[in-house]
Amino acid sequence: MKLKRFKNYQELSGFAASEIANSIKDKPSLVLCMASGETPKLTVELLVKKLKEEKIDHSRITFIGLDEWVGLLPSNTGSCHYFFQHKLIAPLQLKASQYLLFDALADDLNNECEKMDTFINDKDGIDIMLVGIGMNGHIGFNEPGASFSNLSHVIELDEITKSVGQKYFTEKMELGKGITIGFKHLLNAKKVFLMANGSKKAEVIKKTVEGPVTENFPASIMQRHENGVILVDDEAASLLSKSH
Ligand code: PGA
Repeated sequence: MKLKRFKNYQELSGFAASEIANSIKDKPSLVLCMASGETPKLTVELLVKKLKEEKIDHSRITFIGLDEWVGLLPSNTGSCHYFFQHKLIAPLQLKASQYLLFDALADDLNNECEKMDTFINDKDGIDIMLVGIGMNGHIGFNEPGASFSNLSHVIELDEITKSVGQKYFTEKMELGKGITIGFKHLLNAKKVFLMANGSKKAEVIKKTVEGPVTENFPASIMQRHENGVILVDDEAASLLSKSH
C-alpha cells in the first residue's frame, strides 16, 4: 500500500481522474468500479470532462457501481443509482451492456449479488476500484465486522452509516440495509484507490494507514493490497505520523 498526499480536494480529484483516464487510454476495455458519495464527486466530473475533451475512446470500458441502499428508487436523488446515472452513465452515453448497478428494489437480492459476481468474473475482475471511506471505516457497505472474504452481499447497516447517510437525502430516510461489492473483489482488483479529504476524515485515515488490520475496521484491508493507494489531502492526512 502506498500513500499520496495532495494540497487540497481539487488536486486530489484531478490526480484520480487523470489516473483513470490514462488507464483507459492504455486499456480501452478497462473495468472500473467506483463509489458514489461526496468524495468521488469531483473526480467523476473531471474524468468525464477529460475523456470528452481529449476524445479518449471509452466505448469499450465496463463500469460497476460499488453499492446501493436497499429499497431505494433509482429516481431518489440520494441513491447511488442516481449519482452514477446522471454523473457518469448518461454523460458518457454508456450502453446497457457496458455497466452494472445493483437493483436495490429486486425481490431477490441474493440473485442481484450473484449477478454482480458473475458479471465481474466474466470481465476477468476489476482493473481499477475507486472508493471512499465512511466515518466508521467502511468501504462501500462493508461495515465493521464484515468478512474480508465476502463476495457481493446484503448487509444490515451500521448506526453511523444510517445517521451520516442522511446527508445524501432531501428528507429524513429510514435506512436499513445495503447491498455491496465485498472485499474479495477489492483484494482481487488490480488497483485500488481509496480517497479521503477534509479534517473530518483524519481520524479514520490514521486508523486505515497506521492501525491494525482488522475486519472491525474495514478500510484497514488497504494495507493488504499490494496495489492499494491512499489518496489524501493535507487535512485528511493531518493526524498521520511524519514518516508517511
Ligand atoms: P462520502 O462517503 O464520500 O460522502 O464522505 C464516504 C463513504 O461513506 O464511503
